Amino acid sequence: MDEPDWQCFIAAYHQEHAGITEQLFSLAGTSPYAWLAEPLRGVEGTVLDLACGSAPTRQELPDTDWVGVDLSAEELAQAARQGRGPLVRAAADALPAASASVAAVCAA
Ligand SMILES: C[S@@+](CC[C@H](N)C(=O)[O-])C[C@H]1O[C@@H](n2cnc3c(N)ncnc32)[C@H](O)[C@@H]1O
Repeated sequence: MDEPDWQCFIAAYHQEHAGITEQLFSLAGTSPYAWLAEPLRGVEGTVLDLACGSAPTRQELPDTDWVGVDLSAEELAQAARQGRGPLVRAAADALPAASASVAAVCAA
């Protein structure tokens, strides 16, 4: 039997369901994104949200030098519609960022 093509599956899933993770977590009593962002408040330098999806951490870190990276154009479009940015479309294993150019990375 052939191995599943996970990259194609993930791309197609997020194309059809952009924002699904944030929607799901919005059902929780407290925001997991607030918890995720907590240690990032006050970081001096750029915070890179890797696989940011619809970029829910952006609103948790309004005063931070933040950049969101995701492979899915549809997820990034969802983020942009909510005024979240700056956003970069890139793959996690080929980031268009120099070594040691960000102060912190988060990924959910
Ligand atoms: C479960 S969602 C989480 C999105 C967001 N971090 C959140 O918590 O709401 C996973 C995200 O990873 C992105 N992703 C998957 N593989 C990736 C890769 N190789 N490089 C960059 N992003 C990727 C998907 O497009 C999707 O937006």
